[in-house]
Amino acid sequence: MRVITVLILLCFCQAAESRKASPGGLRSRAHQRHGPAGGGRRGSNPVKRYAPGLPCDVYTYLHEKYLDCQERKLVYVLPDWPQDLLHMLLARNKIRVLKNNMFSKFTKLKSLDLQQNEISKIESEAFFGLNKLTTLLLQHNQIKVLTEEVFIYTPLLSYLRLYDNPWRCTCEIETLVSMLQIPRNRNLGNYAKCERPSKLKNKKLLQLKSEELCSEEEKEQLDPRPQVSGRPPVIRPEADSTLCHNYVFPIQTLDCKRKELKKVPKNIPPDIVKLDLSYNKINQLRPKEFEDVHELKKLNLSSNGIEFIDPAAFLGLTHLEELDLSNNSLKNFDYGVLEDLYFLKLLWLRDNPWKCDYNIHYLYYWLKHHYNVHYSGLECKMPEEYKGWSVAKYVRSYYEECPKDKLPAYPDTFDQDTEDDEWEKVHRDHTAKKQSVRITIVG
Ligand SMILES: *[C@@H]1O[C@H](CO)[C@@H](O)[C@H](O)[C@H]1NC(C)=O
Ligand SMILES: *[C@@H]1O[C@H](CO)[C@@H](O)[C@H](O)[C@H]1NC(C)=O
Repeated sequence: MRVITVLILLCFCQAAESRKASPGGLRSRAHQRHGPAGGGRRGSNPVKRYAPGLPCDVYTYLHEKYLDCQERKLVYVLPDWPQDLLHMLLARNKIRVLKNNMFSKFTKLKSLDLQQNEISKIESEAFFGLNKLTTLLLQHNQIKVLTEEVFIYTPLLSYLRLYDNPWRCTCEIETLVSMLQIPRNRNLGNYAKCERPSKLKNKKLLQLKSEELCSEEEKEQLDPRPQVSGRPPVIRPEADSTLCHNYVFPIQTLDCKRKELKKVPKNIPPDIVKLDLSYNKINQLRPKEFEDVHELKKLNLSSNGIEFIDPAAFLGLTHLEELDLSNNSLKNFDYGVLEDLYFLKLLWLRDNPWKCDYNIHYLYYWLKHHYNVHYSGLECKMPEEYKGWSVAKYVRSYYEECPKDKLPAYPDTFDQDTEDDEWEKVHRDHTAKKQSVRITIVG
């Protein structure tokens, strides 16, 4: 097979010019995009521009070699990229076709990020040579059909994203669907949904039955007109996550800070790990707001003016580890609000008008019972009588006259005066620990 080394580079003139005008212009933009994490990562390994004139970064992080060529208007791989790359970041380019042998010289590649391109065609040997590949991101493209054949060169593939592609669910994708449905392939193609035929619209590929795909009737119903290129018109939900910035590395992040949102956006990409909704105008959390964001670990809802949280608002957030609710208008939590948060570790509660009456007992006892959840800022703001007291002190005073044996059986751990200091200390330790073992969560 002839190795295709076509290189097409579009519209670099503008980028090159802006670099001339301000050296490193693109790089600093890239840094901004990555936020502190990107900066930290490069801190220990100075960035080496790979080829003069080409605005891609090649760097080594934890002994693994990365190529970051995101958002560069690329339509193809470039011939002079080093062959020993382990991770190739090509998100947000203009790639339309994955040609046979396109990546065949990158035999060490472990992850390949092609999301947010314009890919509509993947040739059958496009992934030839990638027998070490474990992660392939193809979400947010224009792929309509694909067969299992494409993946025979990637036997180690264990993580594949295919959602937000206009899947045409007919017999043509039957082999792909069967591959995705094999139980051990549980991270392959999880959220991909059919676009056509209309009968199967929004049905998940993972839930399709082969009869549905291959009935003659369905085939005829398909519109035979040639497809006009481009996406079908998108109806924007009232609170739209496309206003937000989506970062891929080091973790999937959606940054919706200061977007004037009045509600939690409905169309949050399902694989987001960190979601920043701070400084918006969300004044209540309705049931199941985050139901589809299964992988969320960090949620920042600070400075929104939230007055009410429905008991089912956090349903489905079983992996959430950090929740920032500081600077809102919360007086207490309804019974049940925290019950789904099995893995919560850190909870910020500062600067809320916590009202110290019986309704705050649920929150207090939940926290006391889940003593591995570290929290801060639970201080009475009203009524006047308890203003400035820690909620712990208030609850104790509430039971003061009760005989000891009637007190709820929760471990009596902290001294209320040093509670917040303690928390800060624990938080610091916790963060330090996290950084040393879980390098994926930074910032
Ligand atoms: C949440 O966002 C606010 C404002 O953007 C920021 O100051 C705060 O540190 C964030 N909280 C966490 C836990 O990252
Ligand atoms: C608290 O939130 C309000 C909006 O509700 C915002 O205007 C204010 O700047 C925030 N305060 C801090 C300290 O972040």
